[in-house]
Amino acid sequence: MLIYFIILPLTVHHVSGAAPRSCKQLKDEFSVNTDGLHYLTTAHGTVYQTFCDMTTAGGGWTLVASVHENNMYGKCTLGDRWSSQQGDNVNLPHGDGNWANRNIFGTAESATSDDFKRYPVRYNAGSCLTNNGPSFPIIYDHGNTETTTMFYGPNARSQFTPGYITLRAINTEGTATAICSGTKPTGCHIEHFCIGGGGHFPEGVPLQCGDFTSFDWNGYGTHSGWSASRQITEAAVLLFYR
Ligand code: G3P
Ligand code: CA
Ligand code: CA
Repeated sequence: MLIYFIILPLTVHHVSGAAPRSCKQLKDEFSVNTDGLHYLTTAHGTVYQTFCDMTTAGGGWTLVASVHENNMYGKCTLGDRWSSQQGDNVNLPHGDGNWANRNIFGTAESATSDDFKRYPVRYNAGSCLTNNGPSFPIIYDHGNTETTTMFYGPNARSQFTPGYITLRAINTEGTATAICSGTKPTGCHIEHFCIGGGGHFPEGVPLQCGDFTSFDWNGYGTHSGWSASRQITEAAVLLFYR
């Protein structure tokens, strides 16, 4: 299984007709080469629509998840689907558990959860740095390690090496986040550049709880102190499968 990540505004168009199982099959066997929304079918015969990237790195990529912060001020309430909508609660260490189940949001029916079963995204899963999940180097189509670095706050830049995707990173207080999209942590304040968490973030309760965790520690989009830029705070992280 390969997963890649892009941070892009989404443009879609509709093509109906054949309904193969994946964008790769649509490309290989049906000669569809256009990026956009296409119809696919599940193993159980349910037809659904999702986005296919048919151009990046040979194409055939099926969108399986999109993660963004729809309300930074919610702090693990409504809309924090990838963390917790139940508040910051030590008794819900997995939050809503959406990194390890097959819950479906919106219209995309696929979900990839294997890696997050191996590296569960929950409070007290381990210690910072020691028990982080694997990091994979990025091959950039757009941007580079410098642009990645500059998305985040000046204080946060001392906490990572850019140019990687990291799964299940853990912070000083034992909170786990699902993905560091662009970075490999070298420090423990990962809540300012990694996203999608469990249900409990002990530091500054409930300020760090949410899908984009503590991107706003020194104000929303201020790009100062630990706060990320507005551009990355308002971005969506799209996960594709091929
Ligand atoms: O993650 C940053 C926090 O642990 C420290 O914040 O406000 O003391 O610099 P502060
Ligand atoms: Ca939120
Ligand atoms: Ca911290």
